[in-house]
Amino acid sequence: MKMWILGGSGLLGRALIQTCLKSHIPYIASTRKEIDITNLNALKEMAAAHPFTHLFNCAAFTDVDGAEKEAELAYAVNALGAENLGIIGKEFGIRIIHVSTDYVFGGDKETPYLETDTTGPLGVYGKSKLEGEERLKAVLPTCCIVRTSWLFGSLGKNFLSRTIDHLKTLETLHVDSDQQGRVTYSRDLAAALLDISCHSGIFHFANEGAVSRFEIARDMHRHARLRGIPLKCEDIIPASSQDFASGAPRPRYSVLNTEKIEGVLGAKLRHWKDVIPEYLLYVEKTSK
Ligand SMILES: NC(=O)c1ccc[n+]([C@@H]2O[C@H](COP(=O)([O-])OP(=O)(O)OC[C@H]3O[C@@H](n4cnc5c(N)ncnc54)[C@H](OP(=O)(O)O)[C@@H]3O)[C@@H](O)[C@H]2O)c1
Repeated sequence: MKMWILGGSGLLGRALIQTCLKSHIPYIASTRKEIDITNLNALKEMAAAHPFTHLFNCAAFTDVDGAEKEAELAYAVNALGAENLGIIGKEFGIRIIHVSTDYVFGGDKETPYLETDTTGPLGVYGKSKLEGEERLKAVLPTCCIVRTSWLFGSLGKNFLSRTIDHLKTLETLHVDSDQQGRVTYSRDLAAALLDISCHSGIFHFANEGAVSRFEIARDMHRHARLRGIPLKCEDIIPASSQDFASGAPRPRYSVLNTEKIEGVLGAKLRHWKDVIPEYLLYVEKTSK
C-alpha cells in the first residue's frame, strides 16, 4: 500500500497522517500549496512520479458560510476537484477514498439518513460536495465515498475546540439546541478510512448517538470540571440556531445511519459520550 493524502494540513488530513505514522504505513501527504486539487496537471505529475495505490481526499473547501460568498471557488475545489481525482484514479489505477458530508441532506427526515436516501443540500457547501460525489462516481464508479458529520479532533479548529475556548473565557455560553447530528472524532474516522479503503460505494461514518451542540457543550463542561480544567463559564443556555444565523442554511436534522459501515468494519462505532472525554484528556495535557 502506498498512500497519498490530499489536504494534509487539515483537521482530518492531520489525523490520518498521525494514524499512518502510528501504524507504520508509508504515505505522502500534500498541502494546497504543494498540490492544488483543481489543477489536474499537477495531480497527474504527482501520480506519475509515485507508485500510489490509494489516494485519500481530505482536501475540501469547508467554510460553510464562506461558500455562500465564494461559490465559484467552493465548486472548483469540492466538485471539479473530486472529478479530477476520479480522472487520475482511472488513469493511474489508484483507489480513491473521498470524504463527503452530512450537508448533502436537507434535514427534513425524522430518522437517521441512509446512504440511499434522497439528497437535497440547502447551501452552496452541501451542493458543491454533492456535485463532487456525483462527478467522481461518474468518472470512477469503483471509488469509495465516506460521508461524515460534525468532525472534531485535536489537530485543528472545530466546534469542540471553540467550545472549550469559550468555556474558559466566557461566563455564560449560548449554544444552539435545535439542530441534531452526530459528532465524528477525526481519529476514529482516520482509522475507518484505512479499513474501508478497499471497498466501493457510499458509506456513512460518525460516532454513535444523535445529539445537539447544546448537549455537547453541557457534557464538555461537566467533564472539563471533573478533570480540573480551569473554566470561567458557569451557565450554558440553550438557544435557537436562528440566533446565530450567519450565512448558510444548515439542516436541522442530519443524523447519519452508520449500519452499513458497521457491517463492513464488523464493529459498532464508539459513542460520542466515550470519545469526548478522550478529546478532553488531550486538551488537559496541552493546556498545562
Ligand atoms: N469539519 C467538519 O465538521 C466536516 C463535517 C462533515 C464533512 N467534512 C468533510 O471532511 C473532510 C475534511 O474536512 P476537515 O474538517 O479536515 O477540513 P479542513 O480542516 O478545513 O481541511 C481542509 C483541507 O483542504 C485543503 N484545501 C483547500 N482547498 C484546497 C485545494 N484547492 N487544493 C488542495 N487542498 C485544498 C486545505 O488546505 P489550506 O489549509 O491550505 O487551505 C486543508 O488542508 C472534507 O471533505 C469535509 O467536507 C467535514
